[in-house]
Amino acid sequence: MSSLIDGLLARPVATIEDEVVEIIDDLINSLPDPKQLTSEERRGIIARYTSVLEGNFIYWMTAAVIAAKAEQSRPILLENLYEEVHDAHPLMLRKFAMAANAFPTDKDALAVNDYLAKVRLFMGELSPVKSVLTMGFFEGFIQKFMAYLADLAARQGSTEMEYTDVHGVCDIEHTEGLFKVLAAEIALTPPEPDADLFEGVTLLRTLIERIVRPEAALLTA
Ligand SMILES: [Fe+2]
Repeated sequence: MSSLIDGLLARPVATIEDEVVEIIDDLINSLPDPKQLTSEERRGIIARYTSVLEGNFIYWMTAAVIAAKAEQSRPILLENLYEEVHDAHPLMLRKFAMAANAFPTDKDALAVNDYLAKVRLFMGELSPVKSVLTMGFFEGFIQKFMAYLADLAARQGSTEMEYTDVHGVCDIEHTEGLFKVLAAEIALTPPEPDADLFEGVTLLRTLIERIVRPEAALLTA
């Protein structure tokens, strides 16, 4: 990439990144106070989070790898997937949920089903820029959510914190990597001026909001 293009792109990507950070911070600031939650409400958040993340994170990161077209993108995304698979992150998450007595039930999975389906269909569209942006948002959110998730589990009497410890740290690097990929994808496939780049971010944000407050889903369903 020439330095001229670099310069032209630096601003939009930085603006997009700022916007993502703002959405993440809004989400984190809107989380209910764990002290005010009942034990069942705390269990439910852990369970719904687990039901969404365990089977879908690697699948959606794989979708981003398939969607990404820029030469620089693949190694960064594959590095992320390598770690997920090599260190068995889904196993780590399952252990975390089980230790907090929050292994998801059918009700937990079904409470977020419609919102999960929308994200799955969106990832299936394999849009390079939108998919990568969605995963950048997801990584960034997960990293900031870990302290809260660990707090919920601790209040449920758990001491099994490998999942939250690992993801509070490693996702910082992954998020930065994903924004490098985003810049490369925007350079290769510049989006139309009226394209909604945040389409996937909005769908995933709604899914996360339903993980936290499933009763809100009933109000808007
Ligand atoms: Fe992970």
